[in-house]
Amino acid sequence: MQSNVAETFRNGTALVTGCTGVLGKLLTEKLLRSCPVKTIAIIVRNKKEFTAEQRAENIYKETIFDCLREKKPNFMNHIKVIDGYLEGPDLGISSTDREWIIENVNFVFHCAATVRFNEPLEKAIKINIQGTEKLLALATEIKNIKGFVHVSTAYSNFYLDEIKEQFYPVPITAKDLYDLLDIEDSSIKNNSILRRCSNTYYFTKAITENLISTNDNRLPISIFRPSIIGCTQSEPFSGWVKNLNAATGVIVSHIIGMTTFPMNNSTYRIDIIPIDYTVNALISVMWDTVQRCQDSSQKYTEPKIFNFVSGVESPLTYADFFNNIFNSYREAPPLSAVWYYLCIFTTNPLTIKVLRFLLHTVPNAFMDLYLLAIGKKPKILKMYGKLELSHDLLRSFVVRNWTFHNNNTRELWSLLSQEDRKTFWYSFEEFDFKEYIKIYVQAVRKCILDEDQSNIKEALAKTRSTISEKKSD
Ligand SMILES: NC(=O)c1ccc[n+]([C@@H]2O[C@H](COP(=O)([O-])OP(=O)(O)OC[C@H]3O[C@@H](n4cnc5c(N)ncnc54)[C@H](OP(=O)(O)O)[C@@H]3O)[C@@H](O)[C@H]2O)c1
Repeated sequence: MQSNVAETFRNGTALVTGCTGVLGKLLTEKLLRSCPVKTIAIIVRNKKEFTAEQRAENIYKETIFDCLREKKPNFMNHIKVIDGYLEGPDLGISSTDREWIIENVNFVFHCAATVRFNEPLEKAIKINIQGTEKLLALATEIKNIKGFVHVSTAYSNFYLDEIKEQFYPVPITAKDLYDLLDIEDSSIKNNSILRRCSNTYYFTKAITENLISTNDNRLPISIFRPSIIGCTQSEPFSGWVKNLNAATGVIVSHIIGMTTFPMNNSTYRIDIIPIDYTVNALISVMWDTVQRCQDSSQKYTEPKIFNFVSGVESPLTYADFFNNIFNSYREAPPLSAVWYYLCIFTTNPLTIKVLRFLLHTVPNAFMDLYLLAIGKKPKILKMYGKLELSHDLLRSFVVRNWTFHNNNTRELWSLLSQEDRKTFWYSFEEFDFKEYIKIYVQAVRKCILDEDQSNIKEALAKTRSTISEKKSD
């Protein structure tokens, strides 16, 4: 039996932005492994001394593409690298590439974005809002466009506690923002709305959604809103993770003993989704978009929104999240751990300050003094300073308890055939978070801390001695 979802892509050309990032990378891998696409065009920017072509080549050497390499050794022949960047005039794309896109592309997956919470506002506007606007304009020119999926975030309407699959009002529209940008620099800084916007990532994502809501470009379009993306559950192999974003950073800092207290209420929920499930849902959303908009009258309707969250079907509290991390850590702690795992929940800023002083500043100052004494450069306080800053940026995020709705995403699941479900599994019904977090902690140990299974015995012995040292203190 063939997969309807996969068949949608037969001999088609997909344009993917953000394919050097974690989501875009896994998306291209899955499209090439499971869908009969003709070409995947990827927009990549030059970075440091590397050209777009060189960056793409380096990416496809990564282990995450091993399974694909085995199945389709010549998969690189299906990839077309396009040099471009979102804030550039016409996306920084040459006129030849632009023409090629207009003539050939059928599906657009817009994954690229700056995801830094504290990106300077003007830069975030240029990349996230104006970049999307330019891509939408380009998509409008594409002769045979069948679907456009914009990747947003489940937290784009950050200020709300309950988030449905709908558009919400924004504090300022893109047009008014641009007017402010045009006047002069200081008006951006002095504007009362913008002064309250501490998280430029969510702010710009919300305004981008608002920009798309009117669908002025008359595109077959959907918005895909994932929550917090974690390591792979099973595809192309279990336990792959790449960067220190979000949950991964939290797990790393806890299992190596650098953070001793999460700043949240243990009964609140954290919403994590495996990246392979996310990719499968994203591809399914494209399928739905194509089906829905085949009838041209549907193209002019409001874009459909899909919240991709785990918590509706399988809720996970912070307490369970950290307990599960601890249980996995107990079985296989990292050898590189600097201290024992300790977890104290608090939402009180003063308690956090005191704990930080006692558990971070004081011991770290001694460690830096020790480094100085042995002729080395002190670095521990600085390192913790950065860690505390990253936790502070997450603070407004973790002290909230969100209620998400995902009716559209579940309805889409109900429409998938048995074959599609097998190939593009994304349902969270009866999802086993205990097992997943175990995979996640092992993934962090292996992919981030570069520690394989061979040192577990030594690491366990080291942890036991740390515990006994603590007990004898
Ligand atoms: N990760 C999550 O937990 C999560 C959750 C919800 C939603 N999302 C959304 O998912 C999408 C992908 O996120 P991710 O986690 O894969 O992020 P990521 O790993 O940081 O990747 C971001 C991608 O965007 C590209 N990019 C950034 N600025 C660009 C620019 N000016 N021009 C061209 N490309 C640019 C990056 O290219 P370079 O390699 O050149 O920097 C990279 O390929 C984003 O839209 C994000 O908002 C992510």
